[in-house]
Amino acid sequence: MSATRKPIVVVGSINMDLVARSPRIPEPGETLIGTDFSQTPGGKGANQAVAVGRLGYPVEMVGLVGEQGYADLLLEYLKAAGGGIEGMGRVQGPSGIGFIVLAADATNAIVVMPGSNGKVTPAVVDAQAERIRNAGMVLCQLELPLETVVRVSEIAKEAGVPLMLDPAPAAKMPDLLWKNTNWVTPNETEAAFYLSGEDLEPEQAAKQLLAKGVDGVILKRGAEGSYLLKAGGGAEWIPPYQVKAVDTVGAGDSFNGAFAVALMEGKDPVTAAKFASAAAAVSVTRPGAADAMPTRDEVEALFSAGTNQPKK
Ligand code: RIB
Repeated sequence: MSATRKPIVVVGSINMDLVARSPRIPEPGETLIGTDFSQTPGGKGANQAVAVGRLGYPVEMVGLVGEQGYADLLLEYLKAAGGGIEGMGRVQGPSGIGFIVLAADATNAIVVMPGSNGKVTPAVVDAQAERIRNAGMVLCQLELPLETVVRVSEIAKEAGVPLMLDPAPAAKMPDLLWKNTNWVTPNETEAAFYLSGEDLEPEQAAKQLLAKGVDGVILKRGAEGSYLLKAGGGAEWIPPYQVKAVDTVGAGDSFNGAFAVALMEGKDPVTAAKFASAAAAVSVTRPGAADAMPTRDEVEALFSAGTNQPKK
């Protein structure tokens, strides 16, 4: 590994996603007949690691799989996508599971059973502290216990390694975690949660999130694109790419992985966000979470075509 290609380290969840395709998301108390079922690797952490690996950038993952379900399959998948798995451990009990309803309009609803992800304690990451200190950037999400994510943020901060936090699923984050975070990347519902339910315009929401102590905010707004705000100036709408979405699961993870890669490769944040947006756009054109993560060539092709090409 060269000095300029320090690995991205993802400390996060790894799940098997059990996906039911359905005409729409059911209402409370409602039963619907599904149209298709699939079992496919996911978890916000693993999705982001695979997103990085498919783009050809060095990536290592820290986390746990459960011996009583999918452990080998998930680890082999991660490895095949280019992910380093030396920082992954195994524990008794099930691995994480994502129960997903995927509607015909490509929207989704997810319930995650943490399984082994819930056993990633601060002690587990302390044992991997050297790996975290040697990273070019650390990516976290909130599918591990909150105190563990806080611990990762402390290790990264002390070592001067930038932390990108996908604050999903939304959880009450301590002030220290906000202050230790460089980039925070909520979607619309998460942003509203962190702003006490206030439904603010993106410009206002990003300002308020920035005031919590991060260096940069990206509000991920799905088909509307994203809004980027950086401390000390620099605000921009990143327009969406025109694609036909069939499955939006993991699109945000694709964005984060690609944004991290682009920043590590020296792109400025706005260009990096446009590149990430292209990655997310490719990912929604096909089924699966980790499975849908695009290659470098696919992202470059859409990135070069720009955001104005017609929907296919
Ligand atoms: O972000 C999508 C992911 O959320 C799914 O893969 C699911 O496992 C949950 O973690």
